[in-house]
Amino acid sequence: MPTKSKDIFPVFHEILGRAEKEILLNQHGKVIWLTGLSGAGKTTLAKHVEKELFVKGFLTQVLDGDNIRTGINNNLGFTDSDRFENIRRIAEISKLFVNCGVITINCFISPTEEIRDMARRIIGADDFIEVYVNAPLRVCEERDVKGLYTRARRGEIKEFTGITSPFETPENIDIEIRTDLLSVEESVKQILELILPRIG
Ligand code: ADX
Repeated sequence: MPTKSKDIFPVFHEILGRAEKEILLNQHGKVIWLTGLSGAGKTTLAKHVEKELFVKGFLTQVLDGDNIRTGINNNLGFTDSDRFENIRRIAEISKLFVNCGVITINCFISPTEEIRDMARRIIGADDFIEVYVNAPLRVCEERDVKGLYTRARRGEIKEFTGITSPFETPENIDIEIRTDLLSVEESVKQILELILPRIG
């Protein structure tokens, strides 16, 4: 039986909003969205940026493909539609964090413009800072931190980004970080220079 309106007691006006929480935290919630190939350096940069922000007194949350895919998204693979759903859920989760005033640092390949646009739409363009973590495929393959490129070349992993599944160059970025040309320290410095004026 549907609930009768006399049985519902809305409390929206009593629920604390984003503004109050941002005052409590003394920061502005934003999503720093790192896109790029596997092995480009997204997670490494996220960890370093998070540490620097922590030291400066900012509350952050890192969301990372490999972690999220073992938890909330453990029912998703790497087809186009699964990647889309992966990013859709992550964008919704990020929005919850932002509405709590938290700075969320996301490390997802997010390989197409359509997928990145969807994330931007869900989160809201004002709160979405897009960072293209770029190293040429050749360099990512040489690094092959997880051994996945070797396995993808052998045909052991289907639809591997950059090998048998596309990565579209991001067109709408706030900054590009060439991790084959810059040190980790320099990369982190450039990201901080971009975001500090927007989160403080
Ligand atoms: S996304 O395309 O949906 O954004 P996501 O960032 O969540 O991908 O996950 C990428 C990580 O999953 C990679 O860093 C890698 O460790 C792992 N992985 C496993 N299979 C694949 C695949 N076919 N393509 C890309 N990454 C894969």
